[in-house]
Amino acid sequence: MQVAEQNTFSIQNIDPVELLNTYGSPLYLYDGGTIRRKTGELQEAFAGINMKIKYACKANTNLAILRLMRSIGVELDVVSPGELEMGMIAGYTASQITFTPSGVPFEEVKAAVDAGAIVNVDSIPLLEWFGQTYGNTKPCLIRIKPNVAAGGNAKIMTAHADSKFGISVLLLDQILEVVKRYDIKIIGLHQHTGSDIKDAEPFLKVADILFETAKHFPDLEVIDLGGGFKVSYLPGDAVTDMALLGKNISERFEKFCKEYGRELQLWFEPGKFLVSEAGYLLVKTTVVKEDPARNFVHVDSGLNHLIRPMMYGSYHHILNLSNPNGEPKKYNVVGYICETDTFATDRELPEVRTGDVLAFLNAGAYGMTMSSNYNARIRPAEVLIDNGEAKLVRRRETLEDLLKTQTDL
Ligand code: LLP
Repeated sequence: MQVAEQNTFSIQNIDPVELLNTYGSPLYLYDGGTIRRKTGELQEAFAGINMKIKYACKANTNLAILRLMRSIGVELDVVSPGELEMGMIAGYTASQITFTPSGVPFEEVKAAVDAGAIVNVDSIPLLEWFGQTYGNTKPCLIRIKPNVAAGGNAKIMTAHADSKFGISVLLLDQILEVVKRYDIKIIGLHQHTGSDIKDAEPFLKVADILFETAKHFPDLEVIDLGGGFKVSYLPGDAVTDMALLGKNISERFEKFCKEYGRELQLWFEPGKFLVSEAGYLLVKTTVVKEDPARNFVHVDSGLNHLIRPMMYGSYHHILNLSNPNGEPKKYNVVGYICETDTFATDRELPEVRTGDVLAFLNAGAYGMTMSSNYNARIRPAEVLIDNGEAKLVRRRETLEDLLKTQTDL
């Protein structure tokens, strides 16, 4: 287990309050340097083996982030035709993109395969269809459900027996029968355990299950162990020890390749690990309400921009950038959406005054991509800081953007 460094706001020499004044509040801010550092950490941990990173871009699909990923040799994992298209717009070739669908219409799979992407087949009916449609003319991977329960939160576990994802490893005989019947070219096995997994043990367990299952497939080129590494959410937080995980998995992988009789490639599909800590949601305090029960800090954002606290009970560390040395006080930090909309409960912050700028940390993954227009609220702009330069990479929405699909204007 590794303990994270203190979470602070430090992006080169950029003044976040100035950026907020330039681009408007709230604002999503990303640090390219952090993405490069996290990518390097993962590459280094697996330096001894043939490892490829397929960024799970559902975490953040801003084209500037996708282009940055591409420039540092990171490929893509997508889950929809929209993400596939965005990957191609960012300059990826389809062959660098893996499509990992979950029960999607088969036409979507056909479009992806015909474009040249490689697909993770996630059900027996899809495998049957794949065989009937392509026989042995197109390769694919099979997404195995290993029946291992792991993940920081029940809502984001994906490999346990009750999960909808993948084909249960218990159905191996059926998988083999369909593969044989249509002579399907299986070049890889895939699994994704869940999200926010801190310990190495679940990764080792699922790796062993895939290595064992792999013995039944003679043409494999890839083992894909998915994503899910736990990141740091608060000072002193325990995170996945990447160096240790890299060492343990690499040893097992090398042993497996020897037994299998061929050098395979190991793939990972991290989302959070690469972008979570690189992102900040900057907001302004609108009202400080000293209620007999609680002190409420209202901000000009809400679950429409960052839904993770309300959806998963996720912790996002908060900094008061305007008054970092203020006297510590406890607050409930709440959003402006007309629902219970709580970012943090009983959170100690340096005294918050009306107009103060707050930063929510860990907003780089599943922040903007999970945002909505609820309450007819527009989405924030996005700024990427890279090589010492701040660049607007998505403009703020306007009311016109919200109205443009309505036909009864
Ligand atoms: N691969 C597959 C097939 C996935 O389904 C996912 C995430 C990943 C990779 C990347 O997982 P990561 O490294 O980011 O943990 N919205 C939730 C997380 C849901 C993850 C869904 N699948 C959150 O905000 O915590």
